Amino acid sequence: MSAPTRTPTGRNEVTSEAARRRTFAVISHPDAGKSTLTEALALHAAAITSAGAVHGKGDRRGVTSDWMEMEQARGISITSAALRIEYQDRVLNLLDTPGHADFSEDTYRVLAAVDCAVMLLDSAKGLEPQTLKLFDVARGRGIPVITFVNKWDRPGREPLELLDEIEQRIGLRPTPLNWPVGIAGDFRGLVDRTAGNAYTKLHRTPGGATKAVEEPVDAARAAEIEGAAWEQAMEELALLDEIGAHYDAESFLAGKSSPVLFGAALPNFGVSHLLRTLITLAPAPSARADASGTPRPVDAPFSGFVFKMQANMDKAHRDRMAFVRVCSGRFDRGMVLTHAASGRPFATKYTQAVFGAERHTLDTAYPGDVIALVNAQALRVGDTLYDGPKVEFPPIPSFAPEHFAVARAVDSGRYKQFRRGIEQLDSEGVVQVLVSDVRGEQAPVLAAVGPLQFDVVRHRMEHEFRAPVELSHLDYSVARRTDAASAPVLHGLSGAEVLTRRSDGELLVLVHNKWRLRVIQRDHPELLMEPLLAGG
Ligand code: G4P
Repeated sequence: MSAPTRTPTGRNEVTSEAARRRTFAVISHPDAGKSTLTEALALHAAAITSAGAVHGKGDRRGVTSDWMEMEQARGISITSAALRIEYQDRVLNLLDTPGHADFSEDTYRVLAAVDCAVMLLDSAKGLEPQTLKLFDVARGRGIPVITFVNKWDRPGREPLELLDEIEQRIGLRPTPLNWPVGIAGDFRGLVDRTAGNAYTKLHRTPGGATKAVEEPVDAARAAEIEGAAWEQAMEELALLDEIGAHYDAESFLAGKSSPVLFGAALPNFGVSHLLRTLITLAPAPSARADASGTPRPVDAPFSGFVFKMQANMDKAHRDRMAFVRVCSGRFDRGMVLTHAASGRPFATKYTQAVFGAERHTLDTAYPGDVIALVNAQALRVGDTLYDGPKVEFPPIPSFAPEHFAVARAVDSGRYKQFRRGIEQLDSEGVVQVLVSDVRGEQAPVLAAVGPLQFDVVRHRMEHEFRAPVELSHLDYSVARRTDAASAPVLHGLSGAEVLTRRSDGELLVLVHNKWRLRVIQRDHPELLMEPLLAGG
């Protein structure tokens, strides 16, 4: 169903607009430099005039802004925003992933909404635990990964050693697009393997607050000015040629190889090459499979799915927003869409593009774009919205929780508010809610990927639903999927408990720890204890 004011659009417009878009996320471990890189990308694309305007940390304000008081107090960003960068007739949609070490499911869900990921590594640290977890999710979703080795201006590891680590630990074949001249910490410049080994010497600008000065230098002069560093780089480049470490589109798009770039986000070294790589190599939005597995072409009527819910971003308005990734068709503000889960119409009068805490009213969007729907109380994470004949995308999988707590209303007189609040947080995917007859309705078990999710629950239950909660931590750290046949046996074992996940009716068994799990599996091989997604 469409609003009568909708502008009729041709198929070609949608196809060509989709082709201009690149929708991606940065996956990294905290402190690898994600915020700095985001700033630098926006700076290079001239979206902002001076680095620092995007960052949400410290006294720098901007895109990954801290919406909730709690976030401000902690100086971290829990929410996911989308940043739109226009560059050389392309539109880059950078979906933010929360960067705190204390992981939440939001980070994983963002990867359901992107077409490509930039894996950001600290040159001194290589692959870190959170990078590995996120990479696993990206791999599970078949998302192509571009690698950016950051902080080359600081002492770090050998470039060949880092490539080796990527290949050995995660089985991703690295294909460097550029190569550093000068070791980590003594960074002289970059050789562009995609441009006949053209050399660019880098000159630092004070404070790194503006674009680095990149000076093209020919090989003869480079050999003269860089001396031994140049010779070493040439030897390494010859080695790369010998082992055939060349970019290969097919294996990159299949998630088997990864183009690698070396650089330093803070002084803005090599960031422009990453931008060029994103617009030339990262895939544009393409047909997405619906729940029945049928690919829906980008020029089909409008469709999209909710990958994130966000409440109370603006205290003055007390609203609830749904972030929707557009999969097909053109979106015009005011369209009346259909909510696939309920079959009900959904009016989109109040649609916004979100640029951090700033909101702009959005009139048109195309595949790859992110739209934010205001007052989206009826929507849940994973829900599909469409125009025309019905389509539904597969649900976004729930991830393996590792932290569990029983929730109770502090004031039993406010049980109604308590129940409503827990239901709402469940539908937004803030935590998973598990119930069992044994524990009863009044004491649901909350399950989280990271304990920070519990702080969000506490805060919102008290301030939004006026029903403060008491959370008692449970001594479980592993969750597995089970079935009705295994449940009664598992429930009787010590160190295990079976509950039902409210959102999808799945039976989960919680176990104290991996050791106990192994013992149960050994003693009862007949019982179903299937791993859940990511880290389970
Ligand atoms: P994150 O979002 O991934 O957590 O990392 P963030 O960008 O905040 O960067 C973490 C620290 O690493 C910051 O320093 C940042 O300035 C530094 N950094 C990022 N990229 C580079 C780089 O290419 N070279 C160097 N030398 N440092 C880099 P901080 O002192 O912890 O924070 P801040 O006070 O600068 O915000």
